[in-house]
Amino acid sequence: MPGAKTSPFIKIDIFCPVNYNFCMSTILDVSNLTVRYGKGPDQKTAVDNISFSLIRGEIYGFLGPNGAGKTTTIKSLIGILTPSSGSIFFSGKPASAISRTSLGFMPETAAYYWYLTPKELLFFYGKLCGIDKKTLSDRVEKLLDFVKLSRHKNSYLKTFSKGMLQKVSFAQALINDPEILILDEPTTGLDPIARMEMRDALLDFKHAGKTILFSSHELSEVEIISDRISIIKNGKILREAAPGELINDKGERMSLEKYFFDLVKE
Ligand SMILES: Nc1ncnc2c1ncn2[C@@H]1O[C@H](COP(=O)(O)OP(=O)(O)O)[C@@H](O)[C@H]1O
Ligand SMILES: [Mg+2]
Repeated sequence: MPGAKTSPFIKIDIFCPVNYNFCMSTILDVSNLTVRYGKGPDQKTAVDNISFSLIRGEIYGFLGPNGAGKTTTIKSLIGILTPSSGSIFFSGKPASAISRTSLGFMPETAAYYWYLTPKELLFFYGKLCGIDKKTLSDRVEKLLDFVKLSRHKNSYLKTFSKGMLQKVSFAQALINDPEILILDEPTTGLDPIARMEMRDALLDFKHAGKTILFSSHELSEVEIISDRISIIKNGKILREAAPGELINDKGERMSLEKYFFDLVKE
């Protein structure tokens, strides 16, 4: 994916000292978000009063064991789930169909119609986003090149490996040239090379001035690419920090791995 000849992203210039307020602006603000499933005695609180913000241009890693509430939080952000309480703002505007047009989303497992080619699929989603034909043709080619699928652009998805389908899903998440990309476990099930390519692609996206929130239970991955992380367990954020800032009770700097295990095993 990295090393593509032409970037598919429209670059946002955020590192401009004359526009410092824009550089440091909050692009996503989540306050006191609570999500419950079910009713009565079987009710389950999957996300329990969490608050966090994303600063424009950062990669924010959402780290937690299975069942921690990562997917539930992400589904609330993108509007698949209605939260039980709390608020979500994108660039200062309450989450709505309109404020969400700046989002790109890659689900944990995407289910696509097998008898489409990646090119057809990207055209389909691009048209749904209202992108004009010429812009869309250009963007589809650039995205296929970016995710290294140009050679397979006319093959049916039913012939694709898991890694190739993840690339299709990634390209689909980028079709509207989003400002914020939200990815749910983007590297789960990928081989080491595909993993590295995905990480590099996320960094390319960040270097175009965009913002990323991604969930993972892979510690090393989160540590390598995130500017900040939050550790979530039982629906609560236990700690938010930059990976190099993790310090134990004695003031000693700790690896994310050690910090995570100590925090999550309790
Ligand atoms: N549709 C659902 N109905 C009931 N409980 C759910 C549903 N989806 C998730 N849960 C529960 O909510 C909790 C958080 O799940 P999830 O957000 O998927 O966690 P994660 O993505 O961190 O693995 C888990 O206990 C899970 O069993
Ligand atoms: Mg999940």
